[in-house]
Amino acid sequence: MKIRILGTAAGGGLPQWNCGCAGCATARRTGTARSQDCLAISADGTAWYLVNASPDLRSQLLAAPELAPPPGTRATPLRGVLLTSGELDHILGLVTLREAAELTVHATAPVRAALHEAFPVGPLLAPYTKARWHTVAPGEAVELAGGLRAEAFALGGKRPRYAADLPALPSRHPAPAGDRTDWVVGYRFTDATGRARAVYAPGVAEWTPALDRAVADADLVILDGTFATDDELAERTGGARGSRGMGHLAVADSLPRLAGRPGPRYLYTHLNNTNPLAHRGSPEAAALAPALAAAGAAVAEDGMLVEL
Ligand code: MLT
Ligand code: MN
Ligand code: ZN
Repeated sequence: MKIRILGTAAGGGLPQWNCGCAGCATARRTGTARSQDCLAISADGTAWYLVNASPDLRSQLLAAPELAPPPGTRATPLRGVLLTSGELDHILGLVTLREAAELTVHATAPVRAALHEAFPVGPLLAPYTKARWHTVAPGEAVELAGGLRAEAFALGGKRPRYAADLPALPSRHPAPAGDRTDWVVGYRFTDATGRARAVYAPGVAEWTPALDRAVADADLVILDGTFATDDELAERTGGARGSRGMGHLAVADSLPRLAGRPGPRYLYTHLNNTNPLAHRGSPEAAALAPALAAAGAAVAEDGMLVEL
């Protein structure tokens, strides 16, 4: 199994275009930028899937050698996209994929409905590419090309702001959108041999039993590192919102869980520009590094390739 981490920043990226905070200023000055969170995964090294489609997708694809078209063709090793949420930082890249001859998108029922109604990227793409949409149900494995198997697990009911008023799901999906716990999911990936096991969960509102099960026998866990501490955003922006209330368990709160579950390699991703861990080489990141290392964790970097 190969995983190419394409981007590691939360929505807005690092630096964020309209932010002059110390961290964004340093990133501008030193070129230590991060693009927005998503990754590519393949079980056989030939058939690749995107997990999330960030607004930075075009440059991320161009930077990944395995995602280049075979010479002389107008083709792609990409076989589809799996979404962990309908958040804009995870879906805006879908429009970048419109040049593809066909596009397969896997999303949970509420996300799929949101992308056809509140933010109708599904209907918008239809005249450009032959799009196929598949509903992902937590607990049901999806068999993908190249021997990749993906199983989603529900991580919460936080909907994108643009879908706040989405009344109900189409009749095929009777549960009201507000009652769903699969607006945000993580994925557990295995290959055909069952030997390589990876978990990707960039939006973890709380540490749930399903996440615990997914992590239990994983080799690699790429998880929510949006904020270092629960009060980070409030402290740095003067706002009132805590990290958990925004659907992101802070690193300070997930790290003890990781320490208690040794075995997998843990990588934090989806780092917000307020998070000191986002700033490679900063004194604050250096101060936190030993605690991360003790738990088998590190910060993911754009372009990282992990082979399992
Ligand atoms: C999130 O991860 O919570 C969202 O992407 C936030 C946003 O950009 O609206
Ligand atoms: Mn996000
Ligand atoms: Zn900033």
